[in-house]
Amino acid sequence: MDNLVSSWYNDQSLPESYIFPPHERPGKLLVPRCNTVPVIDLSDTRTNLVHQILKASQEFGLFQVVNHGVPPNIMSETMSVFHKFFELPAEDKASLTVYTNDPKRCKLVTSTLDYDREKIHLWRDVLRHPCHPDCIEFWPRKPLRYREVVAACSIEAKKLGLQILELLCEGIGIEHGYFEHELTEDLLLGANHYPPCPDPSLTLGIPKHFDPDILTILLQEHIGGLQVLKDGEWIGVKPIPNAFVVSIGYILQVISNNKLKGAEHRVVTNSSDHRISVVFCMNPAGNSNIEPAKSVVTATNPPLCRGFQFKEFMDNFYSMEGDADLALQPFKL
Ligand code: OGA
Ligand code: NI
Repeated sequence: MDNLVSSWYNDQSLPESYIFPPHERPGKLLVPRCNTVPVIDLSDTRTNLVHQILKASQEFGLFQVVNHGVPPNIMSETMSVFHKFFELPAEDKASLTVYTNDPKRCKLVTSTLDYDREKIHLWRDVLRHPCHPDCIEFWPRKPLRYREVVAACSIEAKKLGLQILELLCEGIGIEHGYFEHELTEDLLLGANHYPPCPDPSLTLGIPKHFDPDILTILLQEHIGGLQVLKDGEWIGVKPIPNAFVVSIGYILQVISNNKLKGAEHRVVTNSSDHRISVVFCMNPAGNSNIEPAKSVVTATNPPLCRGFQFKEFMDNFYSMEGDADLALQPFKL
């Protein structure tokens, strides 16, 4: 684990291998525009919520939610546990995580799983693991309360995600409960650590991407960095205390037959602060069938693709270096 960016970021200027091509660089405009990303108050009436969430998901593919009912102490304890995790000595982190292909295991990597083959590295370290109770035995043992706190937060994140999916179903006319079982069976956690960066204008924490999932529930603190692409322009997602950021995944865009817009997003770094974000990705089971929902397909809105297994898509996604559009290509009609 000696290559974690958090272990050496202080040492030097930005290495060449972290410099993105000019058209992908954030440049000097690290905090673009005013914040126009929708903020949705989940204590509003159901009718209003259905309308607002649908509108946000069609226009931005991303929104924030407040008054969501997740206890604030669960959110703050989760952030605190990840701060402590990333502050552990590198040796400790190495011993806590095993690099293996076993999907049940915890993985701590720098940049991406493809570090050795990728052309440009990302300015982040990331811890990933499934949240299923069967996998808890592989979660970090340190910090002491990791398992207890992260289990509580993952239960809340999934509940919140399912609640939002129900509202979306109502909004686009997909039957109630459509996402309740296989389609959201695998909840995956990703904890990103972006250390202060010597030159944020040249590199990225994560370049432009769609999350290859149904829905992503993101927890962040007061340090921004997440941006969403809207009408060709990058918009900063301004942190709001105790809010979750919710983004529509590429697979949900497919199931909605393009009625909902997957969020294209990226993460910029900054030169002064460490930033930690925690994402809960609601993923289908590997063998579940993904297809445009029958109820959204009509003569005038024909299916954009045939059915496929989620794992077939993910195999393509990895071989296409994380390009979701290319991964869908073989299934398009
Ligand atoms: C991700 C991601 C956003 C963030 O992990 O896929 O987009 O703010 N993270 O860290
Ligand atoms: Ni993402």
